[in-house]
Amino acid sequence: MTETSFIYRFEPASRPGAPPLLLLHGTGGDENDLLPLGGMISPGSALLSPRGRVLEHGMPRFFRRLAEGVFDEDDVRRRALELGDFIASARERYGIAAPIAVGFSNGANIAAALLLMQPDALAGAILLRAMVPLSNPPRAKLDGKQVLLLSGQADPIVPAHNSAKLAALLSDAGADVDQKILPIGHQLSQADVTLSRGWLGGINARAA
Ligand code: MLT
Repeated sequence: MTETSFIYRFEPASRPGAPPLLLLHGTGGDENDLLPLGGMISPGSALLSPRGRVLEHGMPRFFRRLAEGVFDEDDVRRRALELGDFIASARERYGIAAPIAVGFSNGANIAAALLLMQPDALAGAILLRAMVPLSNPPRAKLDGKQVLLLSGQADPIVPAHNSAKLAALLSDAGADVDQKILPIGHQLSQADVTLSRGWLGGINARAA
């Protein structure tokens, strides 16, 4: 399906009260990648899963980069707003609440950019191996926005100082950031699933 020219998958909720999730894949992934993860961390949630519209040597991404870890920040800004428009029209079409983003790597980075550029687009975010997406972000008001940031201690792409800076940036803007450093690299692990699931359960319990 396409909505404002994103290719995407949508799976409706099958459990009343389960929070909708926005699934954002890593470089070279697509709209199918994170559906199983979404089902594992929040069974019965509506899943909205777009494919990044930028191609890097044929690999889908959510924004352009100049080199690994060096972003085309004008493109980051533009693409984050484009993703915000996509979410708004998907919410209208499917009648869902603002989703919690679940992003991995490049998908986590666009989710972080969207939080900073358009905080109301997301109810919260799980950022898996995210880094600072904008060197000079707008002054966001993220009061009370819940963010889980799972970083890898041995991540060759995201240095520890960078993920720490992202955590500080989001909490300085008012977000309630829970950062955990896992004894792994850039790839996802079972710990990501367990921690994400537990964190989402905690949010639901507080909201009930
Ligand atoms: C990015 O480009 O967003 C990061 O370097 C992560 C990646 O996709 O490799």
